Parts: sequence; structure tokens; C-alpha cells
Amino acid sequence: MTKDKESITRSFCFVYILTLIVGTIIQFSDESEFAVDMSKMKLTHVPKDLSPKTKVLDISQNYISKLHISDISYLLRLEVLTLSYNRLQCLDFSIFKFNQDLEYLDLSHNQLQKTSCHLIRSLKHLDLSFNDFDVLPICKEFGNLTQLNFLGLSGTRLRQLDLLPIAHLHLSHILLDLEGYYAKESETESLQILNTKTLHLVFHPNQLFSVQVNISVNSLRCLQLTNIKLNNDNCQILIKFLSELIRGPTLLNFTLKHVETTWKCLVRVFQFLWPKPVEYLNIYNLIIVESIDEEDFTYSKTALKALKIEHVTNRVFIYSQTVLYTFFSEMNIMMLTLSDTPFIHMLCPQTSSTFKFLNFTQNVFTDSVFQNCSKLVRLETLILQKNKLKGLYNIGLMTKHMTSLKILDVSWNSLEYDRHDGNCTWGGSIAVLNLSSNILTDSVFRCLPPKVKVLDLYDNRIRSIPKLIMKLEALQELNVASNSLAHLPDCGAFSSLSVLIIDHNSISNPSADFFHSCQKIRSIRAGNNPFQCTCELREFIQNIGQVSSEVVEGWPDSYKCDNPESYKGTPLKDFHVSQLSCNIALLLVTIGVTVLVLTVTVTALCMYFDLPWYLRMVCQWTQTRHRARNLPLEELQRTLQFHAFISYSEHDSAWVKNELVPYLEKEDLRICLHERNFVPGKSIVENIINCIEKSYKSIFVLSPNFVQSEWCHYELYFAHHNLFHEGSNNLILILLEPIPQNCIPSKYHKLKALMTQRTYLEWPKEKSKHGLFWANIRAAFNMKLTLIAENNNAETLKK
Ligand SMILES: *[C@@H]1O[C@H](CO)[C@@H](O)[C@H](O)[C@H]1NC(C)=O
Repeated sequence: MTKDKESITRSFCFVYILTLIVGTIIQFSDESEFAVDMSKMKLTHVPKDLSPKTKVLDISQNYISKLHISDISYLLRLEVLTLSYNRLQCLDFSIFKFNQDLEYLDLSHNQLQKTSCHLIRSLKHLDLSFNDFDVLPICKEFGNLTQLNFLGLSGTRLRQLDLLPIAHLHLSHILLDLEGYYAKESETESLQILNTKTLHLVFHPNQLFSVQVNISVNSLRCLQLTNIKLNNDNCQILIKFLSELIRGPTLLNFTLKHVETTWKCLVRVFQFLWPKPVEYLNIYNLIIVESIDEEDFTYSKTALKALKIEHVTNRVFIYSQTVLYTFFSEMNIMMLTLSDTPFIHMLCPQTSSTFKFLNFTQNVFTDSVFQNCSKLVRLETLILQKNKLKGLYNIGLMTKHMTSLKILDVSWNSLEYDRHDGNCTWGGSIAVLNLSSNILTDSVFRCLPPKVKVLDLYDNRIRSIPKLIMKLEALQELNVASNSLAHLPDCGAFSSLSVLIIDHNSISNPSADFFHSCQKIRSIRAGNNPFQCTCELREFIQNIGQVSSEVVEGWPDSYKCDNPESYKGTPLKDFHVSQLSCNIALLLVTIGVTVLVLTVTVTALCMYFDLPWYLRMVCQWTQTRHRARNLPLEELQRTLQFHAFISYSEHDSAWVKNELVPYLEKEDLRICLHERNFVPGKSIVENIINCIEKSYKSIFVLSPNFVQSEWCHYELYFAHHNLFHEGSNNLILILLEPIPQNCIPSKYHKLKALMTQRTYLEWPKEKSKHGLFWANIRAAFNMKLTLIAENNNAETLKK
């Protein structure tokens, strides 16, 4: 039962997980599977095998010339269909009748001449522009497209009532392609588009502007005209065309694209627009032809706030620069952008100027621009990006009288600062200074506006930030990325610094002091530097770990070790070295302590297990074995009767009789004991000498008692026979009890010497050590000795 339950639960879990996975896959594939991109595939037909779930289908830029109902009727969920840049010639909208979700239909840039009128009501975006329609392809059903936002149309003719069906719709964007438009002689047509926010008209790219249609638009906010070719003769046609369009009060934004005009006509168009309610005027891609001469212009009161002219080509080669530049410099507007032009200069306005914002990006201006110009007193932003500026000193001087200047962008020039230029002067209110992508070096820090808050020095040639620089106490953001700095800055001079960008430099050992010195840092980006992963880096990494991760931008991904080679590519986050290997003092102390502990331990162990005793015993055992091997046997055998003579004190007789003698006799050794084998009638000394001479070894059982009472008996003999001479091996001294040095009477020199030489065997109290003791004794007798018969000997002795 339980097993069954378990397996059911398990399989349930499995199915559940599987469902989750499959669900995820389906969800995941949602966008990719249902958005099909088949553009630029040289298709001549719509592919048949599309997923019926397709929502977005792009088959633009192919060779499709015919669309059948079967091509798309099964795509019931289709919402977006892009068919632009194909070869469609006619289209029956009823083929989309099954695509009830279709919202976006792009049929632009085909060759459509005819369409039917059965439109899908859900359409929000319908683009029929850049086709070959003769008249605008609008039928009354268009009026039902209440959702429609964008409508693109094209035609060669405009008729008065063409746009009536859509007049009541509130469109946001109408694109009207009139590239193929041709005007009928002496016929001024008028056209009504009632409601759209943006109107974009595209004219023929190479023909002189000639459209004479009255188009009136309600609530128009943005007007864009593309492809305008003007000379002094048709200039008035454009102005007339515009005067109808711009009649309403709502137009704010007027854009002209691809304009070719004479200077004279351009000035006239400006003069026309000046009093109009247009606030933003943009001209992209302007070509000036024929000549540039002085024209009258009245800078009357204007609603115009901003004029932007981008990408100017000047086909006039001989002209007065003053005419050209004065026209712009005297404008009574707030914002002027002249970018990507061949202009080499801009003049200082003659009277106090209204300019607040000037953008002269990508021209050919030199350092002489606005020098000694005191009229730009309201100027707040000046952009001189991508020009030919060279001297930072001159730039500072230029801003001297720009008392309102807050933002100055002189990036992408060739600016340098040479200290011989002298002390720099700057406009007092500059808060943002962009010096990025120049060739400035360390000296730049001696030529900066004192109140600068944001300083961009990205991509220059700075190697270090000099210590002694003027304090930039207002500086909050500093970008010195992509230079050659070797160190993080010290915030001594930048007490308010809160954002530092210093990635892509040569910083290998960032100082951990940084966070200490720069207390106000909210954000630092220091990645992509060649970090040297050694001990010095540890503290920095630790400090990074302590500040919140939002402060350190790009952490941990862009912070990697560069060297040593073994760590190359390792994220700093994963670089760990121990405290120990980085701190020499600590290392030494640790080694010292370890050695000390080891020594103490070993000593303690030695004491506890009496290691020296064992060593001594083993050493003696080896020596004895060695000596025994070198002994001349035969010589000995001739004279000896006993293996050993034992001498001991009466006090130690218990040990001798219970331990020593039984052991030796068990080993088949013949022993001469003085009370057993002594010859009566002879003096003790004589007996002893007799015994010693007939024994192979003499064993003395040493103890304080023995020394006090017996030793004297031997002294005389030893004195004569030199028994204890160096290397003598006939003597075995057993130390039964320790003998304190002061117990040995001072006259016993020999004994004292022996004791200090430690050539005795100590009788251990512990039973476990007895084995080794006996082994040493045994080693002393480890040989085959054939002795003279004992009986003879006994008899001799008895005699
Ligand atoms: C400085 O100019 C560069 C481009 O020229 C731009 O990318 C950067 O954002 C500017 N810096 C600031 C602080 O505006």
C-alpha cells in the first residue's frame, strides 16, 4: 500500500515538473515562434508552411507579386503583416477577412495601382505609400476604420474630395507620398484633411517643387516635408503652399528633409516662418547652391525657440563668410544647432544675445570662435564637440564673459594644455565641463574651472593626477576612464567627489585608502583595469566587499586579475589569499609558536615515556653486539671458567637472587657469586680478583649501598689491571638505584668517571621496560663460549 502511494506521489511530481518545463518552453518560444521574419529571402510567394499561431509576419524585401487568400487565411492570429518592398500590383483587401486581429498592415513600396475596399476594421496602421496609385486609394469604407492611427497614401493627383471619407477620423499620422505628383496646368486644387497630429509629405526628389494644392489641416502639430528643391523662381510656390498649411495656431514642429535651395530662397523661407507659430524648426540635409549674398532679414518677434540644421553641403565656393555667419549669430531665438557643416567660424552677436543653447557639433571651428565675445551673457549650454579646437587655455578665455554658462562640451577636439600658456581663466559658473576624447595630459588639472561639478576627461592621455593642484571642492563627478592612470585618486583635492569613473586605465594596485579618503563616494566604476592579484589587493577587495554593491559599478564582472599569469582572468571576487601568507610578522610569529609547541610536546613526551632511557639502552645494546663480534674467542676459552662474576652489596642481594641470577642461569650462563664460589682462607680481595680473572664478564650491581660499602674492595685491583680502561668490554655496570653524585666519595675517581660516561645499564622500575634491559644483558653474552669444566674448577677452588 505505502509503496503504491509513494510511487503515485512520485509520478505525480514527475508529471508536474514535466508540465512546468513544457509550459516554460511554450512560453519561451512565444515571441520567437510567433514572430516570423522572412525578409530579404528572394521569395516569390508567401510561404505556405507558416505556423497558424503566427502573430507577426515580415516578408518585406522579396519578389512577391501576388497575394492569395490561401496565403494568409489560416493565420488566424496574425496581428502584424509587413509586405513592403515587394512587387504587388493589385490587392483585394477581402483576402484578409479571416485575419480579424490584423492591426498593422504595411504595403508600402510596391507597385499597387488598385485596391478593393473591404478593409479589416481592426486596422490601426495602414501603409499604402510609395505605390503606383493614380489617385489616392481611399474609398468610403475607410471611414469605418475608427481605430486607425497611421495612414500612408500615395498618388499622382489630388482631388478635392479624396480625403472626405476619413475627414472625421482622429489620426495621429498621415504620410502622403507625392513623389509621382504632377501638377495640371493652371489648376489649383484644394484638399481637406481634417484631423491629424502629424502630416508627412514626400515630394519628388529631383524635380523643382511645384505642388500647388491647398491642404488645410486641423490640430496639426508636426509637419514634415521631404525632398524640396528650390531656386529663386519657385521659392514663392513653397511659401504659398506653406501658408495654407501653417494657418492654424497649433503647429509647433516643422521639419524639412533633403532641401536644396539658394541662400536667397532659404532666407525668404526663414523670413516667412519667423512670425509664424512654429516653435521648433529642423532642417536635415541642406544643400546651398548658386550664391550666398547679403539678404535683408528682420528678426521680428518670433515664436521660434529652436532652430536645428544638421548636415549642410555648401556648393557655393566664393562668398562672404560674414554674411553667412551673421545671419545665424544675430537670431533672436534661444536654441541654435548647426552641426555637420563646413562652417569654420561663428561670429559674436552684435548685441546682447538671446541664445541659451548653442550646439555646433562637428563643424570646423577653431580656437578663435567667440574670443573676446561679451554678448553671450545668457548662454547656458555651449557644445563645440568634434571641431578643430586646440588650446585649452583659449577655451577657458572664450568662456570668460559667458557669465551664465553652465555646460561646456568641447569633447572630440585636439585640446592640449601647455603650462607656458599661463594661468587659465574660466567663466565663473561652469558646472559641467566635457573634455573627453582630447589629448590632454596631467597638466589639465591646473587649468579647470574652479566650480566645476561634473568633469569628463574620458579618453585623454592622463598618467597621474598631480598632488599639488588647485582644489576642486565642488567636483562631484569625475570621469577619467580610458586614460593611463596607475592609481586611484586621492580625494584631498576633490572633497565632494561622489561619482568616479576610472575604468580602462592602468591601475594594478588600487589603494585601499581610497574609500577612506573619498568618504562621499556613491558610485565608482573601476573595472577593466590590469589588476595585480597579490597581497596588496586584498584590502581593496575587502573594502569593496564592505561598501554596498550598488556603489561599485560593474562588480564583479568587469573586475578581473591580469597578473600574475596563474590568476589571469580570475574575477577579483574569487581571488583569495590567506591572512597568513600576506603578513610576514604574523608568519614569523606563527612559525615560532609552532616550533615552540612542538619542542615542548616532544620534550614532554620524552619525559613521559622515558625516551632517553630507551635510547641509551638501545645504543648500548648495539655497541655490545658490535664488540662481541670482534672478540678473539679461542684465547678467552682457554682461561675462563665462568660467564660472569656478580658483585653486589648485601642490601641488594634480594634483587640479585630473585631477578638477576635466575635470569642469567635460565640463559645457561655460569655465574661466580662471591658467597657461593669464594675460597675460604683467602682475603676478600683475593677472592674477588680470582673470580674476576676466571670470568668472562664482571657484573657490578651499583647502588648507593654498594658504593659506600663495597667499592673500596675493587679500587686497588682496578688500579693495577686497568679493567676500566677505555673501551673495556669485560665490565657490565647495572645501576639498581640512582646514585646521587654527592654520595660518591671524592676519592673514587674512576667510579665518578664511569658514572658521567653513563656506560651503565639502568634497572627500570617499570615492568614494561624490563624486556629491553634483559636484551642488553643478553647481548653482552651473545656468543658460544666453551668453558673449562665447572667441576674441575670447583675442585680447584676448593683446594
Ligand atoms: C561628453 O561627451 C561625450 C561624447 O562626446 C559623451 O558620450 C559624454 O556622455 C559626455 N559627458 C558628459 C558628462 O556629459
